Amino acid sequence: MGILTEHYYKLIWKLSTANEMLEFKKAEIKDLSTIQKLAYDTWPNTFGKVIPKKQINYMLQLFYNIEALKKQMLEKGHNFLLAENDNQAIGFTSYEIFCNEEPQLMIHKLYILPSKQGLGIGKEFLNLLSDIAMQNNNQRLRLKVYYKNAKAIGFYEKNGFKNNGTEMTNIGNDYSILDNIMVKELK
Ligand SMILES: CC(C)(COP(=O)(O)OP(=O)(O)OC[C@H]1O[C@@H](n2cnc3c(N)ncnc32)[C@H](O)[C@@H]1OP(=O)(O)O)[C@@H](O)C(=O)NCCC(=O)NCCS
Repeated sequence: MGILTEHYYKLIWKLSTANEMLEFKKAEIKDLSTIQKLAYDTWPNTFGKVIPKKQINYMLQLFYNIEALKKQMLEKGHNFLLAENDNQAIGFTSYEIFCNEEPQLMIHKLYILPSKQGLGIGKEFLNLLSDIAMQNNNQRLRLKVYYKNAKAIGFYEKNGFKNNGTEMTNIGNDYSILDNIMVKELK
């Protein structure tokens, strides 16, 4: 578990106008409200055209209330990482190693603020998650992505993920979500 608790990444990332510091850090309980805010700031832009607003609000309340996030972090083995730019949180991911007791790292969440998308941060998160997987002898990355989230699907395909079927999940309140399952084998 060393790399999960100790991992601390810094890199210079080139914006069009200037070099800025991008820093990745492990999130703790005290960071959950920041993660919640990032989700609320990202979801309408991500899903606004493909999921009704009422359902978006329901899902945010279900998956991003602080108690649910705490449970994911403390009981379900989800590790959260934050990306910060000049000490401002601009994105996060959560992942689980040995998901379903298989040597695979599950990416549960990956969200970058709309204003910071397309700058290479998502790719850096994937590089970091690949490193963590390999350090833990996990042979593949796995994730579920909403089947109408074409932008994210394009991003994952560009970064070496392949489709591996679909999965329907009943999330309550008469809502179901259809996801594409995507997998990337690591060398
Ligand atoms: C999807 C997301 C994580 C991608 O992160 P990002 O920081 O915007 O993407 P990056 O700038 O790192 O892109 C990395 C590479 O993928 C490419 N890429 C990004 N989106 C792409 C797309 N839709 N189709 C094809 N290629 C794409 C980029 O051009 C770049 O290529 P390069 O390495 O040749 O320069 C981010 O846009 C996001 O948070 N979206 C909203 C939330 C979301 O949908 N999350 C996924 C939930 S499962």
